[in-house]
Amino acid sequence: MEKGIRISDLLGNEAKWLGKRVIVQGWVKTRRDSKAGVGFIELNDGSSLKGLQVITESGGGEYGAVLAKITTGSAILAEGVVSESPGKGQSIELRAERLHLYGGADPATYPLQKKRHSFEYLRQIGHLRPRTNTIGAAARVRSRLSFAIHQFFQERGFHYIHTPIITASDCEGAGEVFRVTTLDPARPCGEGAEDPYRGDFFAKPAFLTVSGQLQAEIYALALGKVYTFGPTFRAENSNTSRHLAEFWMVEPEMAFHDLDDNLETALAFIKYLAAAALRECPEEVEFFSRFIDPELEKRLHNAAESSFEVITYTEAVDILKKSGEPFEFPVEWGGDLQAEHERYITEKVFGKPVGIVNFPRTLKPFYMRVNEDEKTVAAMDILVPGTGEIIGGSQREERLDVLLEQMRLKGVARDDYRWYIELREFGSAPHSGFGLGFERLVQFVTGIPNIREVIPFPRTPGHAEF
Ligand code: 4AD
Ligand code: MG
Repeated sequence: MEKGIRISDLLGNEAKWLGKRVIVQGWVKTRRDSKAGVGFIELNDGSSLKGLQVITESGGGEYGAVLAKITTGSAILAEGVVSESPGKGQSIELRAERLHLYGGADPATYPLQKKRHSFEYLRQIGHLRPRTNTIGAAARVRSRLSFAIHQFFQERGFHYIHTPIITASDCEGAGEVFRVTTLDPARPCGEGAEDPYRGDFFAKPAFLTVSGQLQAEIYALALGKVYTFGPTFRAENSNTSRHLAEFWMVEPEMAFHDLDDNLETALAFIKYLAAAALRECPEEVEFFSRFIDPELEKRLHNAAESSFEVITYTEAVDILKKSGEPFEFPVEWGGDLQAEHERYITEKVFGKPVGIVNFPRTLKPFYMRVNEDEKTVAAMDILVPGTGEIIGGSQREERLDVLLEQMRLKGVARDDYRWYIELREFGSAPHSGFGLGFERLVQFVTGIPNIREVIPFPRTPGHAEF
């Protein structure tokens, strides 16, 4: 007899398992009893969206006593023979000859009912929501995409670098950093002293990283092609459906790559991930297309198979100005593109992923390479329908004199970035990279409207539960 079989294995290899005796373990999604005394349990073990139909017979003794206690939400074991199912909706089922109840769930208080719950409600029960179809499916997609990300880079000769989570630099220079300190805010030792950080753990200001880019640059200028994939933190006080205070970012960094090479890698990356989702998560993609976003499959095929559009920031501003759309935020050359602008371009104008390049120098951080016009930098954003900006990146400034000028203009202290400057003094080389917001990717691949549903435990202003 086979123990520890996963339901996805049974449902994916029906011919192999028919007639075999197996043990399955999972949580009861629904339970229904016919008048004739036959019971139908839908058992889910998290391995797939679909559950296994477990057939029970009414009876006495141990079996009957256990069966009587099994309710929606219970964790159980069922042992029996895999049989052909006469019913609709499944081709095999398990005729349970032995049942074991690990833990029951009182139907009067179990927070997950058979009806559809709102996402807002599910967020309050983050400890139980992975048992729902949508959150469970999103978690499986997330896992599979993480693996595909490593595959993409490893197949192409990139090295995985673990950049620090605690850092002394603010890569994006936007001041949206969380401080890391062991000082007690109620008793700030050293207040008024010459060095307020004297009693602090690192003896200087330290933060949670907003990006692993600057450290990835160090390794790219030694190992050639590297990537980081880890948590990043931003104290952005924005309560939107695409912002988190803690999110995961994938950041490749490549020596001897200019902006065009960078774009090419980013577009190949998105194509690869869209194709991986279609290939590896067909059940989930079909589910999300049915219940969340009817356009999803079309969009993924579009991203996996068709070409992408690339325009300059200046062209984007022209398109937006001529559009006649009643945007909430006005468009002027030199201003940031807002979410509504990004979505108009990628959804309405092109209907596919779009790269926007060469942004105004004043809008972007100090490390981006200054273009010949001296007004723009070699930056790129990639926008996708439904989500807007999913990738931000650039060619980095490798010329020492231009970098120092950029730092002066942006008020970045040289003393804090001595090592970054030295990389331009010793063996400097053109290099580029980008950052993909992992949760935005999962949103793109699932169609889930709010970013709080694609990460297990969302952190947003006022929320750090679990
Ligand atoms: O455009 P960003 O700020 O770029 C950087 O941090 C660069 N240092 C990356 C690099 O070149 N290595 O962020 C990159 C991406 C965005 O395009 C977006 O997808 C995601 O990270 N992102 C967020 N995702 C969720 N919540 C937030 N608050 C996010 N901020 C950025
Ligand atoms: Mg950005």
